[in-house]
Amino acid sequence: MSPTLEKFVDQLPIMNVLQPNHRTKDGPYYEVRMEEFRQKLHRDLPPTRLWGYNRQFPGPTFEVNQNKPIRVRWMNHLPNRHILPIDGSVHNVANEPEVRTVVHLHGSETRPDSDGYPEAWFTNGFKETGPSFSREVYEYPNHQRATALWYHDHAMGITRLNVYAGLAGMYIIRSEQEKALQLPAGKYEIPLLIQDRSFNQDGSLAYPRQPDDAADNLPNPSIVPAFLGDTIVVNGKVWPYLEVEPRKYRFRILNGSNTRDYQLSLDSGQSFYQIGSDGGLLKRTVKLEQIGVEPAERVDVIVDFSKLKGKTVVMRNNLGANADPNDPTGEIMQFRVTKPLSRKDTSKIPRHLSRIPSLKQNNITAIRQLKLVGSTDEYDRPLLLLDNKKWHDPVTEKPELGATEIWSLVNVTNFTHPIHIHLIQFQVLDRQPFDLERYNKDGKIVYSGSVTAPALSERGWKDTIAAPSAQVTRVIAKFAPYTGDYVWHCHILEHEDYDMMRPFTVINPDE
Ligand code: C2O
Ligand code: CU
Ligand code: CU
Repeated sequence: MSPTLEKFVDQLPIMNVLQPNHRTKDGPYYEVRMEEFRQKLHRDLPPTRLWGYNRQFPGPTFEVNQNKPIRVRWMNHLPNRHILPIDGSVHNVANEPEVRTVVHLHGSETRPDSDGYPEAWFTNGFKETGPSFSREVYEYPNHQRATALWYHDHAMGITRLNVYAGLAGMYIIRSEQEKALQLPAGKYEIPLLIQDRSFNQDGSLAYPRQPDDAADNLPNPSIVPAFLGDTIVVNGKVWPYLEVEPRKYRFRILNGSNTRDYQLSLDSGQSFYQIGSDGGLLKRTVKLEQIGVEPAERVDVIVDFSKLKGKTVVMRNNLGANADPNDPTGEIMQFRVTKPLSRKDTSKIPRHLSRIPSLKQNNITAIRQLKLVGSTDEYDRPLLLLDNKKWHDPVTEKPELGATEIWSLVNVTNFTHPIHIHLIQFQVLDRQPFDLERYNKDGKIVYSGSVTAPALSERGWKDTIAAPSAQVTRVIAKFAPYTGDYVWHCHILEHEDYDMMRPFTVINPDE
């Protein structure tokens, strides 16, 4: 258990915007170093040893323009010893002397050689590289809608530890169309990267050993790996506060936690105006009292503090009816409406935001039924699998370039998995419950309720979607504009590392 830390004593930090090292005719060029460093995460906590991009936790924010490509050299300058116990995993990274990293820009439309394929890892100084090709300089075309993406580590079998150590940051794409909407901007637009952590008394990160080592005598081999920290960290500070003016603010919320999902609300009883999802602006603004955010999901919201002068507002996390009311993770951060209004608020909450053409009209090339299942390996260690296949099994999902496909995610486990597909943004078609008991008896999917439309907050472009237990969640996507090897996986990082990840290959039908 972490030391008891007083809430709302540190100001919310805002990650600085990364400046390019230089500009070439191919666009801005950035260099980012991964290093070990210490940073103070709470007034009463000794500095924490972390890994971060450019010695920052979270990493610096990229601000880029739509259709203006950038290049980034990701440099591993990390020590050879992990700051967290590497207790093996199904991919046996415990025996590897060098710390492996690879960077993925989550939600981006990127060529395979710049996508951060898990086996395209590289070690300190690029001395050693994984079995898949990795470029030293990644290219991001930014040829997609304006939105908040995020970059994070994705190295095979060790992602949960690298991200937990601090390797994550935000990446914001801007467009003219979005600017025209006059949303709150500049200092009134604030990223909120929410994570949970646990600490030791000396300020170091605490992360439990996972029940995964064949050499261990597992007390309970049926435990599925997961991590729930007891402390909330936003933009790298424990339970921070933010002083705001009585006006509208735009918050770019990202759940960057390993396992934890959040049900966010404001204790003032106010609503959020959600304007965007993972892949950009929604069709219309939706007013929501509570917003669910699974790991890796982003929500773009406006909060109006104009009638709350002098008040404080706590952003809460609804833990559900059975939760301990004293669970400290029921609170995220505090807003203090204490700043004077510096100028008239002319920003808008537009009713109509953007056009989203439905993919349903496309010619559907394939419908895939993909089961999310619990399993065990040869040592009886728990695994979670996609369609009963492990990472190293041959590729089975091979969409053709430009094809539109429906993926039916059939969750036969007992909990929700946030499923993420690389390369594309998809649309959620619907969900339908089925009888899990019946399935466990005879392996048949028998529907037990009617089809439900996606939640209002999910009716935009998505790259990560909650696939709840005993439900079929259907998504539709067009696989373009690149061919090559990508991955799809559960974004609970412990699940991902324990083989809930699969390759997929976009193929060119003419080759
Ligand atoms: Cu955010 Cu494959 O990852
Ligand atoms: Cu991704
Ligand atoms: Cu999962």
